[in-house]
Amino acid sequence: MTETQKAYQELVETRRSIRKFTGQPVPRAALERLLEAACRAPSAHNRQPWRFVVLQDYDLRQQLISEMSESFRADLAKDGMPQDEIERAVERGRDRMLGAAAVVLLFLSMEGMDSYADSVRQAAEHTMAVQSVSLAAGQLLLAAHAAGLGACWVCSPLFTPTIVRRVLGLPLSWEAQGMIALGYPDEEGRDRGRKALREVVLWR
Ligand SMILES: Cc1cc2nc3c(=O)[nH]c(=O)nc-3n(C[C@H](O)[C@H](O)[C@H](O)COP(=O)(O)O)c2cc1C
Repeated sequence: MTETQKAYQELVETRRSIRKFTGQPVPRAALERLLEAACRAPSAHNRQPWRFVVLQDYDLRQQLISEMSESFRADLAKDGMPQDEIERAVERGRDRMLGAAAVVLLFLSMEGMDSYADSVRQAAEHTMAVQSVSLAAGQLLLAAHAAGLGACWVCSPLFTPTIVRRVLGLPLSWEAQGMIALGYPDEEGRDRGRKALREVVLWR
């Protein structure tokens, strides 16, 4: 194995989702390096449908969390979850987002993608945009780890796209995909294990 291979293997094997952060701020230059790494990802037709919002304003972050929490509460109540459990789940999500030194929201825009009259090809094109944004986010997570930062993908914006767009004042074309909570790690992170290759790979 070359040194590059060893370094890469080490990086992917030691990355963990980190959900607790020290209060130390992440410098803007460091965030820009992560976003540059994300934007180096491959994308369908190289159209780069990813969009990002670095949520710096703390009041805006609180407003966003509060509105997303309301929607989360309503969804859990519809599921029939007991009130105390709902409050615990909402609290957990809130703390996670407020405790991060930085929050990067992930979006896709179909504006530069191809459009088709038939729904099957249009759905495939949309999936390609989702896949491209996911690759960018994956690269961002690895770059964060390489930089000594901790990060965790949080899916909640996917469930509240209208709230996210309104609170952040974004164009209609920006579809929320998720967000990445970031900061200097205040926990080790647990190895959650992976399925063995034989469980997920068929050789034909
Ligand atoms: C699409 C996606 C959505 C996720 N959503 C959440 C989430 O909402 N909250 C959370 O704590 N972790 C979330 N995660 C992190 C996963 O739980 C985590 O990656 C998985 O348990 C494996 O752990 P590891 O990242 O430490 O290897 C998400 C990950 C992905 C890729």
